[in-house]
Amino acid sequence: MESKAVLVLGATGYVGSRLVPRLLDWGYSVRAAAQSLEKLNLRPWANNPRVELTAVNVLDPESLTSVCKGCSDVYYLIHSVNPSDINFAKEDRQAAHHLVRAAEQTGIGRIIYLGWLGEEEDSPSQYLRSRSQIRKILQSGKVPATILRAGMIIGTASGSFEILRYLVKRQPILFAPRWLATKRQPIAIRNVLDYLVGCLRYPETAGKTYDLGGPEVLTCLDVMKIYAEETKLPKRLTIPIPGFLPKLSSYGIHLVTPLHTCLARGLSEVLSSEASAIQNPIDRVITQKLLDCRQAIRLSLEQSQHELTDEPQKEAISIPPPEWRYAGDPDWTGGIACKYARSITLKALPSEIWEPLSKIGAAGNWYGGSLFWKLRGLLDRLTGGIGMRLGRTDFQNLNPGDRIDFWRVLRVKSQARLLLVSEMKMPGTGALDFHISRIDNEKTRLELCVKFVPRGMLGFLYWHLISPFYKNLLDSQLKKIAKQIGRPTLSGPE
Ligand SMILES: NC(=O)c1ccc[n+]([C@@H]2O[C@H](COP(=O)([O-])OP(=O)(O)OC[C@H]3O[C@@H](n4cnc5c(N)ncnc54)[C@H](OP(=O)(O)O)[C@@H]3O)[C@@H](O)[C@H]2O)c1
Repeated sequence: MESKAVLVLGATGYVGSRLVPRLLDWGYSVRAAAQSLEKLNLRPWANNPRVELTAVNVLDPESLTSVCKGCSDVYYLIHSVNPSDINFAKEDRQAAHHLVRAAEQTGIGRIIYLGWLGEEEDSPSQYLRSRSQIRKILQSGKVPATILRAGMIIGTASGSFEILRYLVKRQPILFAPRWLATKRQPIAIRNVLDYLVGCLRYPETAGKTYDLGGPEVLTCLDVMKIYAEETKLPKRLTIPIPGFLPKLSSYGIHLVTPLHTCLARGLSEVLSSEASAIQNPIDRVITQKLLDCRQAIRLSLEQSQHELTDEPQKEAISIPPPEWRYAGDPDWTGGIACKYARSITLKALPSEIWEPLSKIGAAGNWYGGSLFWKLRGLLDRLTGGIGMRLGRTDFQNLNPGDRIDFWRVLRVKSQARLLLVSEMKMPGTGALDFHISRIDNEKTRLELCVKFVPRGMLGFLYWHLISPFYKNLLDSQLKKIAKQIGRPTLSGPE
């Protein structure tokens, strides 16, 4: 095993931040580099003793040379040094030249680069033309470069996957330009990462170019259909539109998704290019079990449960799977979870607050908002749900899995937390989260948070229709709990 560290340039990025833990798993030490140390520190592996965090600007040759010193190999995972700059291609070329020189001067053994399938000099996409130049620059130096080229990567926070996720979630009718019907070989992020690590383990990959793809040939529409099936969204009506329309698509993507305009423009150009077929597949050299698109989507969706529980990722699972959202990924990735919270501070002990809270729902007592919950229960029954009729399984104790009217207990920690997940019929998944936190010997705070992960456009409409009622509802519940305890309110509800 190498004793020198492996350098990951772009370690805060989508691919880089997921590659670092993979390299650690294989026993490598890693120097993780990106522009911002603050962002590096947010990553779940930041405190690993085999990781060294370093700030670097790849446009500055000296900073690049100093970060390369003492490393065995370099992963070059810089998406674009300045995507909002119209001249980004020139800067990207400069950075690639700097890297080639720095690698030669510091005795780096190999450069490993992940580019895009379809990156050709004559591509209609400015981004793909630029990527093809970078590939050539990296291959032109004395240090051997391994070039991997991937198409669409499936996993939360992958730009191309997020575009499809938002398009299918937010549009009941899909206007489909031709690029949505172009055939591709989408690949799961964990397979991409294993190929990237595999390049280090298989020295024969040095100086070669390989194409990466999953086991199926699918169109973007197929991927969206699978996503809709897996998230139980109704079937989308698709209206084909002739032509690739990259510019118009980028406006559409910007309108429907929360992606930054520059990213939407770049990705719509890339997706609008004819996806080139896989020419030199890497599985001739590195073999692994490839996930199909449905398996990869399922893995990415497993995170919804953690969205609701809000457990710190370090507590829930030390390094989250690569398909999930990472701390430090953009906020909009993974779909948007809606939240509304109110809190109250009482002159009381956590045990005093827990007493009425642990009795919630007994004999229909929800501490306020009873009319709201009754109406909501009636609506649920009218739409075929279970309504308020179920009551509470156990009046004395609270355990995970217990039923309280149309809620199910998901987490319970005496004197600290009660998390209830809704079993009502609704276009999404809803939860009520009570948190008790002791401020000092005299003060304790009770927070009540409503969480909702919408399903499709209907889910968003539902949240926007119902959320204006939450302030009054939550305040009244908090006040009634405070009254029940009979201790002075120090602040709130706020
Ligand atoms: N994502 C995909 O779906 C996909 C598909 C196929 C191929 N690829 C390829 O995979 C590679 C990585 O893409 P990605 O999506 O992971 O990129 P990304 O998420 O946009 O990350 C870009 C990284 O580059 C760093 N960076 C930007 N400018 C820099 C500078 N001047 N100096 C130092 N670092 C700088 C950023 O650091 P800061 O955070 O500090 O700014 C960040 O770590 C790219 O070559 C891309 O073409 C990606």
